[in-house]
Amino acid sequence: MREVAVVGVGMTKFGRSEFKSQLELFGEATMDAINESQLKPKDIQALFVGNANGDINEGITVLASHAAAEVGLNHVPAIKLEGACSSGTVAIVNAFMWIAAGYADIVLAAGCERNTVTPTPDATRLMNSGNHHRYEAGTGITFPGLFAMMAHMYAHKYNIPLPQLKEYMCMVSMKNHKNGAKNPKAQFQKEITREQYMSSAMIATPLQMFDCCPISDGAAAMVLTTTEIAKKLTDKPVKIVGVGQASSGGLSTQKDYSRPIAREISVQKAYKMAGLTPKDIDVVELHDCFTIAEIVATEGLGFFDFGKGAYALEKGETQMTGRIPVNPSGGLKSKGHPVGATGVAQGYEIVNQIRGICGARQVDGAKIGLTDTLGGPFASVANIIYQRGW
Ligand SMILES: CC(C)(COP(=O)(O)OP(=O)(O)OC[C@H]1O[C@@H](n2cnc3c(N)ncnc32)[C@H](O)[C@@H]1OP(=O)(O)O)[C@@H](O)C(=O)NCCC(=O)NCCS
Repeated sequence: MREVAVVGVGMTKFGRSEFKSQLELFGEATMDAINESQLKPKDIQALFVGNANGDINEGITVLASHAAAEVGLNHVPAIKLEGACSSGTVAIVNAFMWIAAGYADIVLAAGCERNTVTPTPDATRLMNSGNHHRYEAGTGITFPGLFAMMAHMYAHKYNIPLPQLKEYMCMVSMKNHKNGAKNPKAQFQKEITREQYMSSAMIATPLQMFDCCPISDGAAAMVLTTTEIAKKLTDKPVKIVGVGQASSGGLSTQKDYSRPIAREISVQKAYKMAGLTPKDIDVVELHDCFTIAEIVATEGLGFFDFGKGAYALEKGETQMTGRIPVNPSGGLKSKGHPVGATGVAQGYEIVNQIRGICGARQVDGAKIGLTDTLGGPFASVANIIYQRGW
């Protein structure tokens, strides 16, 4: 396989896009990434774009072809990939493979979504379509409901009283809002207090408003090429050294919601390809769609023993200066979660962390970073490891 490097990244501000369509958001993020790479749209040989609900939110199909035309890509193969919240990471994984295999030299990976055009009740129903059509979706389960079950299962399995687990979940929310307050592209740029967290609206017991990611619009993009070409384009070397992806069936096929099995399989593939272990990772952007999901992810990715992720928060191990800084961007909780764009935005953050240009939210000395996205009912997971240096 050929070595693959990142030469440009771009991202819109996340939040509510009143006037720009998802294609226009895509165009904004993509042109930032292409300009940063010192290339031109005509140099791009293929496009992979992550998008989960564009067809229903804005009534657009054949989205990848329209996206390619939006930025003047030269009749390239344009492919939309859908793995719910993992769609963007899956787009990068596929771009990586085309370059690594020698099928193309310069590939654009992107993600876009405009969710806020759909009112919350309908957006909730739309996301519910990620559950198994025959056996689960009809029960009326929602995504907050699904992760509420994860919290109950975690509390029960590890014998942590729910009020105590809520304190740890509050720590996740406060940390990510604090990090997001330093991110000019984040949807929420405000710190929150314990009192605000505890008094926020109950959404699905025990999840309150400040346990949930918001509904968001936005886009992110990344230009990938061979290390050989990258050396001529940038003096800020960032390579992709490991990728992994795995899937599960619906909830009824999974025994333990506190340990999504697809994540463990996916991230082990990425570690193996990179020849690295969790101890080598300096910074991680992971899937905190709900606060309990962050705790569970820190365990599944191998940073803490199972059942110990909650206690690590108490010791500040996931804070900016902790053993493994988690979600310096503010994560999905504070930065926002435009579903198809999320994985690429995680890559945007990690690439810039490795370049050392994140300013107030820079993790000191970050050289190796991991991204993690979890889609649907814990059914689609993808992970990427980025590393500084040629
Ligand atoms: C939590 C949730 C139900 C709230 O939706 P809502 O009740 O319609 O909230 P609104 O959009 O009316 O916003 C009301 C206020 O709360 C704020 N808000 C909305 N969601 C928020 C969140 N998750 N965290 C913090 N504040 C939030 C809004 O900014 C708004 O503030 P303002 O009044 O100062 O402008 C919604 O954000 C949600 O469904 N989140 C989860 C999305 C999801 O499941 N994604 C997939 C994950 S895998």
